[in-house]
Amino acid sequence: MHFHIMTLFPEMVLDGLHTSIIGRAEEKGCISIEAVNIRDYTLDKHKKVDDYTYGGGAGMLMQAQPVYDCWKALDEKIKERKSSEQSEDGRTRVVYVTPQGEVFNQSKAEELSKEKDLIFLCGHYEGIDERVLEEIVTDYISIGDYVLTGGELPAMVMIDAISRLVPGVLNNGESAQTESHSNGLLEYPQYSRPEVWHEKRVPEVLLSGHHANIEKWRLEQSLERTKERRPEMYEAYIKEHPPKPQKRR
Ligand code: ADE
Repeated sequence: MHFHIMTLFPEMVLDGLHTSIIGRAEEKGCISIEAVNIRDYTLDKHKKVDDYTYGGGAGMLMQAQPVYDCWKALDEKIKERKSSEQSEDGRTRVVYVTPQGEVFNQSKAEELSKEKDLIFLCGHYEGIDERVLEEIVTDYISIGDYVLTGGELPAMVMIDAISRLVPGVLNNGESAQTESHSNGLLEYPQYSRPEVWHEKRVPEVLLSGHHANIEKWRLEQSLERTKERRPEMYEAYIKEHPPKPQKRR
């Protein structure tokens, strides 16, 4: 999977993403991450990329021209690569990271992890001229109901969440399936050695080696934890998985 990030701060996203598991996945060749500087595409002789907003209001807006030309160069490069690989040439999705988008979640991460290429557009200042957004953006996505100073951190959050779903990125294929949110519940509590720590014992069932009982205990714990911490998630899960009626004797 190839990630392409359009940003005014390429070193910020690359420094952040080249470390840890995501960096290793890049070295293994499961994913690639490139950041392109929108400023490199401005036709302004002072390298300016922003200007005042029509109608007044605080702050500056990123202008359409550098954003459009940056996207065009990137999109053409991706098209060329796809045609040389003779792979399908569907339109490459362009995700504009914005607090005005739909809120990102695990199922969105799963959906996006199926793409071969993804372009992330990171805004700054007060946003980007609407006309270029209309022409190039396919998805408007937020990472939550709060406002950050730019789109770089949200893009990094999404790229991390998407990358770990790409085959080969995680060493243990199972861990992406059993963790929180993948089945609509929060994950159960987990324990490692020693068996007793600060006078707290590891729950007996986990030492029993009885797999069916362990599975049952974990599901109960997941349900309890979700009900307590995320009641709206619990309600949705129960609607989808109504408890089986008790057998009458
Ligand atoms: N840019 C600024 N705030 C954001 C948010 N919450 N999500 C995505 N992009 C943003």
